[in-house]
Amino acid sequence: MNPPRHLLQIEGLPPSEIAALLELAESYVLLNRSGQTERDLLHGRTLITLFFEDSTRTRTSFELAGKRLGADVITMSVATSSVNKGETLLDTAATLNAMHCDLLVVRHAQSGAPALLAQKVDAAVINAGDGTHEHPTQALLDALTICRHRGRLEGLVVAICGDVLHSRVARSNIHLLTSMGGHVRVVGPPTLIPPAIEKMGVEVFHDMRAGLAGADIVMALRLQKERMARGLVPSAREYFRFWGLDAERLAYAKSDALVMHPGPMNRGVEIDSAVADDPERSLIREQVEMGVAVRMAVLDTLSRRGLS
Ligand code: CP
Repeated sequence: MNPPRHLLQIEGLPPSEIAALLELAESYVLLNRSGQTERDLLHGRTLITLFFEDSTRTRTSFELAGKRLGADVITMSVATSSVNKGETLLDTAATLNAMHCDLLVVRHAQSGAPALLAQKVDAAVINAGDGTHEHPTQALLDALTICRHRGRLEGLVVAICGDVLHSRVARSNIHLLTSMGGHVRVVGPPTLIPPAIEKMGVEVFHDMRAGLAGADIVMALRLQKERMARGLVPSAREYFRFWGLDAERLAYAKSDALVMHPGPMNRGVEIDSAVADDPERSLIREQVEMGVAVRMAVLDTLSRRGLS
């Protein structure tokens, strides 16, 4: 079977492919830190970013990644596009396809939207986050960050805390970490943990002390109020009181446990500033740096499989 032309999800990606992407991404970390670029790789190729939801990290890092590899990078501004005149997602994609776009990076509020587009366009489609489904490049950059500090994923205990229900980041991380031999716990109030999530191979905790005990990595998630149809938490203040990651709660984990957060952070809601900004424990800034390298590795890998 030919390897997929698109990157739509982590689920189903073989561990060997994940390992290869991480190894390639590591080489791009070194390239980026040296200040050099690899502009021949995507020379003459066009990459379009099409974001129907807000983004700072993902969109910027895909654009940087494309430019460092020599692609012509177009940022489509959905807010000022003909989407506002009623053009559908599929018609928008068909329009971009007619311009012979090679790589289409898509974020959409609807789970499955990038997969739908992948069936309709010639371009290689990369899912930059779809609804509550997946955010594959976030999981790859998280894995790269962990590997650079712990040298492996296998056997590590990773506690993913907070609003798991609405988190595509959590889903992609669960698929990736379990497939690479990690032990994943999800920790949060019952209203924010999806039913039957144990079937994904994770342990469920509704208590921060028990959930964090012995954890190597503590990953805090943003409380996604924009996806909450009804009040699943009493108030931000109360949420922090029970579920916020502060120094006291972090002390439940291993003494050298590392802190992650995909961003954007709600300081004082799911994470305390003192923890988020602790240079000894927090990997949050490094996650952002790894995002560029991982996205270069993804663009590189898909381009080697043959763009249209
Ligand atoms: N982590 C993440 O996806 O951040 P952005 O929403 O800023 O892209």
